[in-house]
Amino acid sequence: MNIQPIGIFDSGVGGTSIWKEINRVLPDEHTIYLADSKNAPYGEKSAEEILALSEKNTQFLIARGCKLIVVACNTATTNAIAYLRAKYPIPFIGIEPAIKPAALQTVSKKIGILATQGTLSSALFHQTSKVVANGIELIEQNGEGLVPLIEQGRVDNPETKELLERYLNPMVAQGVDCIVLGCTHYPYLIPVIKSILPAHIHIIDSGEAVARQTKNILESHLLLAPKNKATHQFYSNAKLSILKEFLTGYEVEIAALDF
Ligand code: DGL
Repeated sequence: MNIQPIGIFDSGVGGTSIWKEINRVLPDEHTIYLADSKNAPYGEKSAEEILALSEKNTQFLIARGCKLIVVACNTATTNAIAYLRAKYPIPFIGIEPAIKPAALQTVSKKIGILATQGTLSSALFHQTSKVVANGIELIEQNGEGLVPLIEQGRVDNPETKELLERYLNPMVAQGVDCIVLGCTHYPYLIPVIKSILPAHIHIIDSGEAVARQTKNILESHLLLAPKNKATHQFYSNAKLSILKEFLTGYEVEIAALDF
């Protein structure tokens, strides 16, 4: 079981930001990554649709023998992880907007959250927000349009920058000192985001925390892989060239999928 792969899925290429953290923290683990880019963006779908797609992705990974699944998508986690955990017998790791770490850092007591509509309107997100809301103002912003641009590989271009300015500037004007990136696609926008934000504003994302949590859970379930040369299989149901671009410099296999 220990040499079985970790399964990772996202609505597209964004979860590769999480895969990179996992690969850094757990270099011996074999991985299978599923990019459901044909169905991106998940963030504009109904909760039922997000759940059905997440289950389909899970079944794909379980059929390939994955010992643990990382839901590398805030939208899928907040809408589907409770259901997946209840239904399938392997451990699931999810990712949620890092409101709690931001709450510990903020001095202005105002936190901006950039996430998809699917995440912002989920019950799990509301629950977490309530817990930290105590004296802290959360300013939510739907990042509509950003995921499709990243899926086209258009990360550093005028259209992306203009959208980000439209989303970030009002939060800055309201006095936030932390901006939480609540979508796994957004870490790829950090250089552009930094060029827009004043230097004192912290940008917070959860990639590293997810990788650490994955390690902890593998350890506690006695599932850590022994030292070996890990292999990494990526599947996408859209243009492979874009996924390839996001994985430049990594030794991985990328295959097309009719899914
Ligand atoms: N990477 C997904 C997330 O973290 C993007 C969601 C989408 O496809 O809209 O939410």
